[in-house]
Amino acid sequence: MDSNPVVEMMGRPLRLAVIGGGPGSFIGGMHRAAAAMDGRYEIVAGVVSSDPDRSRKAAVDMGIEAERAYSDAMEMLDAESARSDGADVVAIMTPNDSHHAYAAAALDRGFDVICDKPMTNTLDEALDLVRRVQSSGLIFCLTHNYTGYPMVRQARAMVKSGELGEIRLVQVDYVQGNKADEQDPDPSDGLPWRFDPARGGPSLVMGDIGTHAHNLMRFITDLEVAEAAADIGHVAPGRIVDDFGGALLRFENGARGSFWVTQAAAGVENSLWIRVSGTRGSVEWRQEFPTQLIFRPLEGPVRIYTPNGPGILPAAARASRIVAGHPEGFQEAFANVYSDAAEAIAARRSDGQANPMAMTFPTEIDGAIGVKFVDAVVESSAANGVWTNAELLTEEGT
Ligand SMILES: NC(=O)c1ccc[n+]([C@@H]2O[C@H](COP(=O)([O-])OP(=O)(O)OC[C@H]3O[C@@H](n4cnc5c(N)ncnc54)[C@H](O)[C@@H]3O)[C@@H](O)[C@H]2O)c1
Repeated sequence: MDSNPVVEMMGRPLRLAVIGGGPGSFIGGMHRAAAAMDGRYEIVAGVVSSDPDRSRKAAVDMGIEAERAYSDAMEMLDAESARSDGADVVAIMTPNDSHHAYAAAALDRGFDVICDKPMTNTLDEALDLVRRVQSSGLIFCLTHNYTGYPMVRQARAMVKSGELGEIRLVQVDYVQGNKADEQDPDPSDGLPWRFDPARGGPSLVMGDIGTHAHNLMRFITDLEVAEAAADIGHVAPGRIVDDFGGALLRFENGARGSFWVTQAAAGVENSLWIRVSGTRGSVEWRQEFPTQLIFRPLEGPVRIYTPNGPGILPAAARASRIVAGHPEGFQEAFANVYSDAAEAIAARRSDGQANPMAMTFPTEIDGAIGVKFVDAVVESSAANGVWTNAELLTEEGT
């Protein structure tokens, strides 16, 4: 990522406006650092809190000019679309229930959009965004940031090149412990938005990490989940939102899979793990040790690939930033997604040409497929685990 194709195509970095990610948000800082890492964006405007005074102050503290530190998202979108030097791109990192309204308003005003997951809380909203993106020709990037890891891209490239043979089995786990304490949050303090299904969506665990795990399987294998048989709910007594979800999966090519996500495993940090097995071998990747991709060929010794290490394929080399053996991780992967989206946006805005390898960032289609998967596992679990369609059907508008 050492050249800057955005500046080559546009003569300047993209102008970015942010919605959300203010004080107290972990992911807001990740978005801003990802945007800055390769010099492809300049953050020019923001509304970073639902509280107008806090928003303006926090935005100025982030280095945004006072006149572009707004108190309300719709006010910012109107003002920025009226400026000759207005933002090109809007990044949305607010609670889940606001993604649709802000993304729709941004697209309607001609902004390209970067949005955090889950894309929306309902399938109708997701399909509405798909239609708006496709009719406008604008770019929509969904920040499934795990797709930016060099070794995830190596796994995908190995599947694509046929090195694993025909894919037969997929297993994914995303296990966290941050909601293991049933006393936290204390309802007498008022529940945070995540614990309110009207704001957090139909399933807390699926919205927080389930859509990431589902997207990771699809990204590496290029296969869709056709059906799921699921059991999801809560293990913490008294909780009204889901803290675990498990499903057996049938993929479109007949491959079988297992999916397990929870936030209630005491002491576990961010244990995202995936194994993909084909007729000629298996790959395994663990996010807590992200610089290793283990390849177990059917014949021959185990191989371990590393970023910028020997034998990696061009898609992984392109996403590798530093000398092999120096660790790179979450932040760099997030920046890879931002930088690829920037290349696509700049190409669209300048009639330029993006590197085809940049065009793998998750889009509105991936977002809608993720929302459909959430609905499918919720529906299956409510029917005591009956096999349930998880594919977006043409009659649903795609
Ligand atoms: N990609 C990832 O790995 C990842 C990780 C964490 C969260 N997320 C997603 O990011 C989003 C936010 O999650 P979070 O954990 O940061 O939540 P949070 O509650 O910690 O922070 C939300 C931030 O948005 C601000 N905000 C709320 N409403 C706003 C509005 N109307 N206008 C402007 N700012 C507003 C809040 O003041 C706060 O600063 C969610 O959609 C979540 O799913 C993604």
